[in-house]
Amino acid sequence: MHLFTRQAIPMVWDYTEANILEPKAISWLNAIDITAESIETVLSDISTAQNAKQQNAATHEFAQPTYLISTDPPYYDNIGYSDLSDFFYVWLRHGLQEQYPDLLRTVLVPKMEELVAAEARYGGKAAAKEHFETGFRAAFGAFRKGMDPRFPLTVYYAFKQSEDADADNSPKIGDDLFAEEAVTLTTGWETLLAGLVTSGFQITATWPVKASQKWRMVAMGTNALTSYIVLACRPRPEDAPTATRREFAQRLRRELPAAIEILQASNLAPVDLAQAAIGPGIAIFSRYAQVLEQSGKPMRMKTALALVNQALAEVLVEQEGDFDAETRWALAWYADHQFESGDFGKANQLAGSKNTAVNALTQTGIVRSGGGRVKLLAREELAADWDPTHDSRTVVWEITQHLIKRLQAKGEEGAARLYRLLDGRASAARELAYGLFTLCERKGWSQEALAYNSLVLAWNGILAQSQQLPKAEAGEQGRLDL
Ligand SMILES: C[S@@+](CC[C@H](N)C(=O)[O-])C[C@H]1O[C@@H](n2cnc3c(N)ncnc32)[C@H](O)[C@@H]1O
Repeated sequence: MHLFTRQAIPMVWDYTEANILEPKAISWLNAIDITAESIETVLSDISTAQNAKQQNAATHEFAQPTYLISTDPPYYDNIGYSDLSDFFYVWLRHGLQEQYPDLLRTVLVPKMEELVAAEARYGGKAAAKEHFETGFRAAFGAFRKGMDPRFPLTVYYAFKQSEDADADNSPKIGDDLFAEEAVTLTTGWETLLAGLVTSGFQITATWPVKASQKWRMVAMGTNALTSYIVLACRPRPEDAPTATRREFAQRLRRELPAAIEILQASNLAPVDLAQAAIGPGIAIFSRYAQVLEQSGKPMRMKTALALVNQALAEVLVEQEGDFDAETRWALAWYADHQFESGDFGKANQLAGSKNTAVNALTQTGIVRSGGGRVKLLAREELAADWDPTHDSRTVVWEITQHLIKRLQAKGEEGAARLYRLLDGRASAARELAYGLFTLCERKGWSQEALAYNSLVLAWNGILAQSQQLPKAEAGEQGRLDL
């Protein structure tokens, strides 16, 4: 049953006996219903004759520039669609060869034209890379010629940047966007964006779109992406200016904070933030005909992406400035110790640098200190019945941790009751959750990252439910239920 949950054909260890008589997942009734629904939809939605043609995107020539082009292109070496297609193709061919003799003339699905960097198929890593990138550039070059200038080209994309690419804050200088080292460190994003930019496109807008299902099973892990990105692209003007690395970095610093705020305000999942920031970041990069390194060589896409990541990290650090001193202390302490205990002297020194002291921290209820040691309280150690209306000094750190604790124990409704009691003080918790998520991802603390991600994901639900709570209930009765 779950043969295709991943884009591969694994051996599935399962019982062979599906009960096809019960109206459960696999049953005659469901099969008939689903088929009937599909036919109904097709017949009712399509009133005029439609025409679909299959073409090789890398070699197709558009007759005139009149096309509206929208594409979900292949992801470098991620999925061998033509290999997977064989599974169905042999049966389609069996049944439909007479109707579509041309389309189904080969015994298996044609493989070589596919834009995928498959090492085994093209004779090694370098040849596979060459095949993919040449085809990709040819396809986007043809799109540029074929597209109706009144409309943008739209490209759908989702790819979690690899850890090593994220960590690469010391970009090297290369002479071409597809430089050689990229063979070992190519991310889907890098290849896609380099392809777009070198074919003369400029990104003019980006939207993260929440996917109804987790996007891309292959990318799935504990912290899988939940959205994909739509890039709107237009041909870059012939007279686009050139910028220096410094100018590009300055523009990033100037424009990225507002773009990130919009993304956060729209409740984008923290797990998707790094990916979503690529859009506005590379929109700046692609405005220029070239961004030149100090050596005079054009900046590579890998470098540009590293600079965007760096600028995003800076924006998140700047946001920390909005938090109270205790929260800023907790953030810095957590980055080094998480919920482990540490030396009192160091804790107090750090507290001093944040304009607070360990004593004050203990009073807020976020740390425990004793025997020369200091420790941030883990969520399990926090009081389950915390009532912020009786807490004279609430800080963003404790609000965030308590909201997560309540969410985990009592769901959105429980968190909504707490949110209501916080009376407007909760909103900074979402901002902190973004920062904490990014920190935990970098540290490889996936369980913790998941907790902060889940708070943002639940945010709209918590808000909506808190507004529905009757005033009295949120206060008196709600407190009983804490
Ligand atoms: C990311 S998938 C798009 C999936 C699609 N959005 C869907 O929901 O089915 C990329 C697609 O590009 C196709 N593709 C690969 N090489 C191609 C080529 N040279 N010309 C046209 N399409 C190609 C693959 O077969 C695959 O279906």
